[in-house]
Amino acid sequence: MRNNKKHLVILGSTGSIGQSTLDVVRRFRNRYEVVGLAAGRNSFLLAEQIDEFQPEVVAVESEKQAGELRRRLGRRRLKILCGEAGYEEIASVSRADMVVSAITGVAGLKPTLAALKGGKDVALANKESMVVAGALIRKIAARSGSRVIPVDSEHSGVFQCLRGRNKKFVKRVYLTASGGPFLRVPLEELAGKSLAEALKHPRWKMGLKVTIDSATMMNKGLELIEARWLFNLRPEQLGVLVHPQSIVHALVEFLDGSVLAQLSPTDMRIPIQYALSYPERLEAPLPSLDLAGVRSLEFFPVDERRFPLFGLARKALAAGLSFPVVLNAANEVAVQAFLEEKISFGQIVEVVNYCLNNHRPRALSELDEILAVDGESRGLAQQYLKELKGKIT
Ligand SMILES: NC(=O)c1ccc[n+]([C@@H]2O[C@H](COP(=O)([O-])OP(=O)(O)OC[C@H]3O[C@@H](n4cnc5c(N)ncnc54)[C@H](OP(=O)(O)O)[C@@H]3O)[C@@H](O)[C@H]2O)c1
Repeated sequence: MRNNKKHLVILGSTGSIGQSTLDVVRRFRNRYEVVGLAAGRNSFLLAEQIDEFQPEVVAVESEKQAGELRRRLGRRRLKILCGEAGYEEIASVSRADMVVSAITGVAGLKPTLAALKGGKDVALANKESMVVAGALIRKIAARSGSRVIPVDSEHSGVFQCLRGRNKKFVKRVYLTASGGPFLRVPLEELAGKSLAEALKHPRWKMGLKVTIDSATMMNKGLELIEARWLFNLRPEQLGVLVHPQSIVHALVEFLDGSVLAQLSPTDMRIPIQYALSYPERLEAPLPSLDLAGVRSLEFFPVDERRFPLFGLARKALAAGLSFPVVLNAANEVAVQAFLEEKISFGQIVEVVNYCLNNHRPRALSELDEILAVDGESRGLAQQYLKELKGKIT
């Protein structure tokens, strides 16, 4: 940190988390400076962000996107990187102190690893990286001395409850789940829910993929696996409680029966700000939590008949080995197909189930092994999608 400012690279700056991160930076210009921004294809918004935050380097998905961005920037000179190599390079630029990892999906894995290898602290929103490569991420972070600080509200809650506590006294950790838009719809209607209905999340405004994952509750399954690696817990120590108010984000139960919970208003800028400022806390210009106004807080278990993808994720967590990689890859392919309206809501679980059932599990430790299983599983998922299409036409 030079000039007392923390220098940030934001991966996925044009997304929901990326934009909320930039909102936090706007509030605390005296503390944070943006040195790098990485986006996918939204060169319009990226150009606006460049104007406002003046990074020294940016990265985009392809040469085509880079060309479009150059046209938008006119005569301004700026280093523009592109493709996978570009994301890895921007994640490890020498001036960065912290990298906010907020690209969606496994596409965020290599840049996250590059940041950690480069000795940067990582504010991690990209849960898929932890799901597929949790052990590897832990190993690389330990080697370089980098910290991985959670951005996800539930993991930020656990992180805050565990701070200063000895983990040997922890009995169980609970993440909460809002239950998404389909918590109370009749079971027989679920499979036919439309894309528009699945995208109407009752509490959080998020990117498309994570919003669908919330509707199926795969999101909570991925978060359980993420928590296993972030906090080095055993699978049986992890649980989920449905909590429709989304005010309690996580609870930690200790051996003596005491439970600590973390509460905050439903606003992602709170955990993002904490990840950036940790271990300090900065005054946020946000309304205080009004518990008297909320009146009641409900908690109940997840119904796995309603949310079978959560059940599959829980089993993949318990089984370990390569299963979480398959789970994630199949889910990414299936959700994309649902977003493109090629399959129904109910078919997402079919795709994931098919891939898990047709996978020969193995132990994975290196990146190329993980990526090989990721690729195989995507192939299997695509093959199943073709079969489904054949059945429909
Ligand atoms: N949103 C939330 O409240 C929330 C909360 C907790 C955790 N998360 C996690 O945070 C991550 C981001 O979520 P989000 O809601 O911010 O998603 P989002 O709104 O869809 O944004 C995704 C960002 O990643 C970029 N991107 C997508 N695919 C890419 C690729 N293949 N290569 C390079 N860049 C790519 C997008 O760029 P373009 O748009 O420019 O193409 C965009 O900047 C996810 O892993 C999600 O699970 C989100």
